[in-house]
Amino acid sequence: MIADFILAWMHHLCFLGMAAALAMQWALLNPSRPAIPLALLGKTDAWYGSLAMLILAIGAARVAWGPKGAAFYLDNPVFWAKIAVFLAVGAISALPTLNYLRWRQQARHNAAFQPSPADIGRVRQAIRLQFLGWLALPILAAAMARGL
Ligand code: HEM
Repeated sequence: MIADFILAWMHHLCFLGMAAALAMQWALLNPSRPAIPLALLGKTDAWYGSLAMLILAIGAARVAWGPKGAAFYLDNPVFWAKIAVFLAVGAISALPTLNYLRWRQQARHNAAFQPSPADIGRVRQAIRLQFLGWLALPILAAAMARGL
């Protein structure tokens, strides 16, 4: 019971942290900023990725050892829909990550380097798509928890 309570609490902390990290990337990529802070962007993305790994591990632990039993989730298509959305969001997040790595590599050769507006636009589009996934995740989670 106490383990389930702690895992549920950590699950919530993880997705709050992930949402904050995504919102921060969005704000850091605002085209009206005089310069994009590339190092901070990279750190924010690293937090986002690490928390995604953690929530996956915590979610798996809740499935395996939660009080409802693994079959409660594994037999529910809503659980699999949640996992599919989570993986889709993860796949989309690769585009910003790859761009941040490339930008920081270019900035190492040229301290004045700034990404092009077209690149920034593409990354912001990927973040927008992730926000859409984020709208679906809590709905699917609430439905799944109630066995809908
Ligand atoms: C960013 C991704 C995720 C978000 C936003 C999210 C969100 C949530 C929310 C809001 C709840 C509470 C639902 C409620 O009690 O009404 C929940 C519960 C849960 N989540 Fe996630 N989750 C995410 C990823 C995952 C993953 C990857 C897994 C599995 C590998 C997972 C497994 C679970 C389980 C087992 C519960 C417990 C449901 C219950 O109380 O019966 N979650 N999640």
